[in-house]
Amino acid sequence: MFHPLPAFTYLKPTKRLLLQMQRLVIVLVFFLSLLQKCGFSELYSWQRQRKTKQEFCLHDGPPYANGDPHVGHALNKILKDITNRFHVMRGYKVHYVPGWDCHGLPIELKALSEVRGGENLSPMEIRQRAFAERAIEKQKSAFIRWGVMADWANCYLTFDPKYEANQLRVFSKMHDKGLIYRDYKPVFWSPSTKTALAEAELEYNEQHVSRSVYVKFPLLKSPPKLASVIDGSSPANVLVWTTQPWTVPANQAVCYMPDSAYSIVKCATTGQHFILAADRVESTAAVLDTQFEVISTCKGADLADGFCAHPTIPGRVSPLLPANHVAMTKGTGLVHTAPAHGMEDYGIASHHQLPTDCLVDESGCFTEAAGPELKNKYVLEEGNEAVIKMLQAAGSLLKEEKYVHSYPYDWRSKKPMIIRASKQWFVNTADVKATAQDVLKKVKVIPTSAVNRMLEMLDRRTFWCISRQRCWGVPIPAFYRKSTGECLMNSETIADVIKIVEQQGTDAWWALPTEQLLSKESAGVHEVSDYVKGQDILDIWFDSGTSWAHVLEGAEQRADIYLEGKDQLGGWFQSSLLTSVAARKKAPYKTLVVHGFTLGEKGEKMSKSIGNVVDPEVVINGGEDHTKDPPYGADVLRWWVAESNVFTEVLIGPVVLSAARDDINKLRNTLRFMLGNLEGFNPETDSIPPAEMYIVDQYMLHLLHEYGSKVTEAYKQYDYSKVVRLLQAFCSRNLSNFYFSVIKDRLYCEEAKDPKRRSCQTVLAEALDVVVRSFAPILPHLAEEVFQYIPYKKGKGVFRTGWINASSAWKKPGIEEAIEGACAMRDSFLGSISGKNALEYEVIIVIEPGLLFELMEALQAEETSSVSQLNEIMMASQTTLLSELPKETPSDANITKGTFLINLEGGDICEQCSYKVIARPIAKAKCPRCRRYTAESSSTPCPRCLQVLAAGKGST
Ligand SMILES: *[C@@H]1O[C@H](CO)[C@@H](O)[C@H](O)[C@H]1NC(C)=O
Ligand SMILES: *[C@@H]1O[C@H](CO)[C@@H](O)[C@H](O)[C@H]1NC(C)=O
Ligand SMILES: *[C@@H]1O[C@H](CO)[C@@H](O)[C@H](O)[C@H]1NC(C)=O
Ligand SMILES: [Zn+2]
Repeated sequence: MFHPLPAFTYLKPTKRLLLQMQRLVIVLVFFLSLLQKCGFSELYSWQRQRKTKQEFCLHDGPPYANGDPHVGHALNKILKDITNRFHVMRGYKVHYVPGWDCHGLPIELKALSEVRGGENLSPMEIRQRAFAERAIEKQKSAFIRWGVMADWANCYLTFDPKYEANQLRVFSKMHDKGLIYRDYKPVFWSPSTKTALAEAELEYNEQHVSRSVYVKFPLLKSPPKLASVIDGSSPANVLVWTTQPWTVPANQAVCYMPDSAYSIVKCATTGQHFILAADRVESTAAVLDTQFEVISTCKGADLADGFCAHPTIPGRVSPLLPANHVAMTKGTGLVHTAPAHGMEDYGIASHHQLPTDCLVDESGCFTEAAGPELKNKYVLEEGNEAVIKMLQAAGSLLKEEKYVHSYPYDWRSKKPMIIRASKQWFVNTADVKATAQDVLKKVKVIPTSAVNRMLEMLDRRTFWCISRQRCWGVPIPAFYRKSTGECLMNSETIADVIKIVEQQGTDAWWALPTEQLLSKESAGVHEVSDYVKGQDILDIWFDSGTSWAHVLEGAEQRADIYLEGKDQLGGWFQSSLLTSVAARKKAPYKTLVVHGFTLGEKGEKMSKSIGNVVDPEVVINGGEDHTKDPPYGADVLRWWVAESNVFTEVLIGPVVLSAARDDINKLRNTLRFMLGNLEGFNPETDSIPPAEMYIVDQYMLHLLHEYGSKVTEAYKQYDYSKVVRLLQAFCSRNLSNFYFSVIKDRLYCEEAKDPKRRSCQTVLAEALDVVVRSFAPILPHLAEEVFQYIPYKKGKGVFRTGWINASSAWKKPGIEEAIEGACAMRDSFLGSISGKNALEYEVIIVIEPGLLFELMEALQAEETSSVSQLNEIMMASQTTLLSELPKETPSDANITKGTFLINLEGGDICEQCSYKVIARPIAKAKCPRCRRYTAESSSTPCPRCLQVLAAGKGST
């Protein structure tokens, strides 16, 4: 008696594996053991110890050691990890030391808010490391959970004494070159946090409302050129407009544009004479709700040597001065100039030696010098109000109205800034700018458009205010003479401080008396006790900007790449460039990769109030309600990063995440098919050389080679979304939809050791290896999981065995023509049977003699076959290949016609070939073993199956 073998014998192990894999994925314990088994934690040190000269250094931009890990961190750290893992697999020794930015105001504010009576804390009480340390531990464990490979045992922290010492060394070098100076200057000042801020720390509020005023300044002395026009017969005034009335008490001049036209007008309502820009006459009259009669027009330069009276301060004279910063699109074309409260105003004042005194204190209130009416009033509120009242009382106020405009706010306190002159420390960026721009032009920037923004930002920066009036930071190591305020700072005094800081950290600056910080020799002719230490700290952008000096190794101290969000174009990318160029005239990086920000799913900002904040912790482990927030695992988070176009805004939300999970599941199914069908296959003994393979198998190797090169190139371009697209196209189109369906019969029904079966198993083994390696940098957990299940890999980790190694013997130019030609005919065939089971049909292919016929002949030598390579691709039960229509073709036969363009040898051979396909229901019976219609009767296996069965019996 003969027992038909159940069909799909070889599927059994697949199913078993499939269930195993599913179960294991769910169990977290397995996941953790996987991490250990594959040595995720040791991978970094393992790859560092390899004997290779190729180094790849990705220098980590330090996130702020404040708050919980968020999706912005995930985007950045995972992009870095994909980059690093790719390079590890390519055989590079990767240098990646993560860091944290540990100083600065947010931590200081947090410390102050956690302690009762925080306002009265001493600097030493505020300088607590604990808060930053807690945040670092939390962020670090999240980053590790995301699968980020790094030198976790040796992270850099900007409050590490060695780091602080290196930072001060850079400061010292810059000071030696004369690039650091102290000056009294208007700077952006935050009254709410009582410190100066740099431009990079401002946020602009587009909806800020100012109280703008039109004010007249009575003319005291006419400009000589206008003496004939303004003859004193009626009072003449200069008309100005300002959005900051509180700055009027500090007025020292009124500026005009020498090349513009100005008019002297008579007001229809009051009969007074006003001077203002000719272009602004009508709009100003309209605002003031009156008419202006133009009496005369002159050039701005004609206003020279005129003087006005100050509207509220008796006896104060404000000269009319030429300037080129006067705006002609707003206001009156005459600009009120308060040197303590405007950068350009200050420039004018220094040029003309006008006073630059500031009447506003650190908390933004008027000082005693502003007079009893203003003293102690906060300038942006009661102060403004009081000045407006004074202007009104003096009869100088012509109009007050609300004015909505973009206005700088403190990025930390979210409160408005003012401009206020004070003594600060600066980096003279004007002197390093040209070199910085030159070296930046040699840096590779991805995307390239980002470099222009950075060049522009550099261009606008003439100085960099680096002093902050806070205490949680690195001190500016300056001493001041008590009697004169004169500053003492030179390479010796800085070196002394560096020595102390390196041993004791910067706490020493606050803890030790000046006598221990400043040596007798340095004090020179004066007593050490004549000096006090300075109270300013360095801008935290200076802290993080000098990280290259501490973290980067080798004589060159230059990273291969810096990879950060686009906000760093004006931040860390820039402060790193400026300090590096200032200290040693070169960029600290060779390549900059700039990514966008994370946004909600519809492109909206994430905010607690909208409730669209995505927490990476919830993405990985699930939320409270798993039906709403399922646990996706780290690889889903990583897939989201990789598939996103990170060079624009990066959207995330429930839809995106569940689509990512579905994509990974599809990939898993593809992998499962390959794994399951490799059961019992050992490449060392069972592989078939490419030349002996089925042509479709050779074609797959050819595609695999092409896929490997394209993926490698995409990784090199940091274009990980392209990697994902290539991976998905290859897995779904070429593998799942095409190859797997074509080879099923060979895999399941041929004898296990049959070379035909070994041929496609060889391809599956190679494809599995290439595909897993191709996504390993993106999905390291899945890649390792798969590798643990490939018996012949003997547990060797995917990251320790190199990158895709596609043999050049796989390249077969021209082979696509044969397979894709056959595929075109198959598509015609399948189209003609409209969704019915192709196995119930035989197909007749008619091609006139020529190139296409020859290619098909290579796939099927016999005229008719049910076991040929061509028949396998057609997926029919039998295929007949003819060069002309058979005579007995019924007139009603369905003949599908088509053409295929053969393009060989780079276009040298190009032939348009036509073919006909006829589908006919097959007359044979269904084989009980292979389910194809190739048997004589439904109770007897087909000849092929009989042969397989006989061979099986013989061998047992
Ligand atoms: C394989 O993929 C390539 C690129 O996507 C495509 O051009 C080709 O037609 C595919 N071949 C098959 C048989 O699916
Ligand atoms: C790449 O494959 C070839 C054979 O195809 C082998 O000789 C070589 O050692 C492999 N290289 C690596 C790095 O695995
Ligand atoms: C020919 O094709 C048409 C539609 O494609 C179908 O309705 C018809 O049954 C087919 N005839 C034969 C003989 O297969
Ligand atoms: Zn059969």
